[in-house]
Amino acid sequence: MAESSDSKTDKPVTQTPGLLPSSHWASLKDETANREYDTNDSSSEHTSFLSSTTSVTSTLRRFRSLHGRTYHSEIGIAQSWTPNDLKHIGALEFMHASFLVAMDEKLFLAPVDTSKLKRVLDVGTGAGHWAIDMGDLYPNAEIIGLDITPMQPTWVPPNVSFQIDDANQPWTFADNYFDFVHTRFLSGCIADWDKFYRDAFRCIKPGGWLEHQEVNIAWFDDSDPIPEESPLGQYGPSFREAGNRSGRTFCVVADDLQEKGMKAAGFVDIQVKDMKIPFGAWPEDERQKELGILSKAFTMADLDGWLLFTFNEILGWKPEETQVYIALLRKELNNPKRNLYYVRRVVYGRKPEAS
Ligand SMILES: C[S@@+](CC[C@H](N)C(=O)[O-])C[C@H]1O[C@@H](n2cnc3c(N)ncnc32)[C@H](O)[C@@H]1O
Repeated sequence: MAESSDSKTDKPVTQTPGLLPSSHWASLKDETANREYDTNDSSSEHTSFLSSTTSVTSTLRRFRSLHGRTYHSEIGIAQSWTPNDLKHIGALEFMHASFLVAMDEKLFLAPVDTSKLKRVLDVGTGAGHWAIDMGDLYPNAEIIGLDITPMQPTWVPPNVSFQIDDANQPWTFADNYFDFVHTRFLSGCIADWDKFYRDAFRCIKPGGWLEHQEVNIAWFDDSDPIPEESPLGQYGPSFREAGNRSGRTFCVVADDLQEKGMKAAGFVDIQVKDMKIPFGAWPEDERQKELGILSKAFTMADLDGWLLFTFNEILGWKPEETQVYIALLRKELNNPKRNLYYVRRVVYGRKPEAS
């Protein structure tokens, strides 16, 4: 397998089996000129509100600018690939809507006793969409959204607040504090998932619940298998390689880290639910079609934002290689002949009463 050197990390870029060298994409530049399937996939500009919690210092607001996007400032040992700008917040809004449809409008699946819900933590809350909905639904509970960057709105229900901290560091919450800890889509951000689950276990009250939702970083099409060397086929191996390099794996679902880590931390009654999420309007079933449209909308609303940091900064690709890859990936994602889907996994478990 060919290898190319990576100026940013000095590591070969093809350690992951099946991963093509980044120079492959530059050689395909001419193919981006073919506009077949190119539709306007950047859904209408969704506005949200970039704001901060009152406790946020100016240092945390000194966002890093990379590739025309902004990212979190230095904090702890955090290294997140997620932009914190308005464009990405818009994509996260669509993503939240799509997750709700996938979950039959439920915010979580764990059998939490909501009549006794007092304190809830959402780790990696992003723009706080889940935390805000929880605050509205359970006005008697205190909801804390934790993130490394102040990208949350200030106009939130009075029982919702945001804290800025790095979940990779030891958690500062008291033992047995929360009734429910929730986390969603932190792939590529967490240095040690076993530690993460141990921290959650310590902070959850006996009898309380942890729920962790994650996306499997791979594309599937049952009607027409995806060639390994295509942009869709290279997606999973690229992210696996990026996780190997950054020490923050993207393969949480593929490597079954949720169930293993929660078990090791001491959680019981663990349930694993996999959901096939269609991408695009191809399903015949109306509900699945709606889900497919929404999942495509949130992906296409900021395709650059989902990929730029990982490919340019972690994998060390040249910006032009990344741009060709993204252009060809966009073309495949817009191919109406494809019946694409991916898999979301929800895992929840309970802290035993006697712990
Ligand atoms: C893909 S977004 C998901 C946001 C939200 N959970 C949702 O589902 O809408 C990942 C979020 O995790 C945050 N994050 C990344 N690393 C983190 C860390 N070490 N500690 C806390 N939050 C982190 C990022 O800033 C980003 O807001």
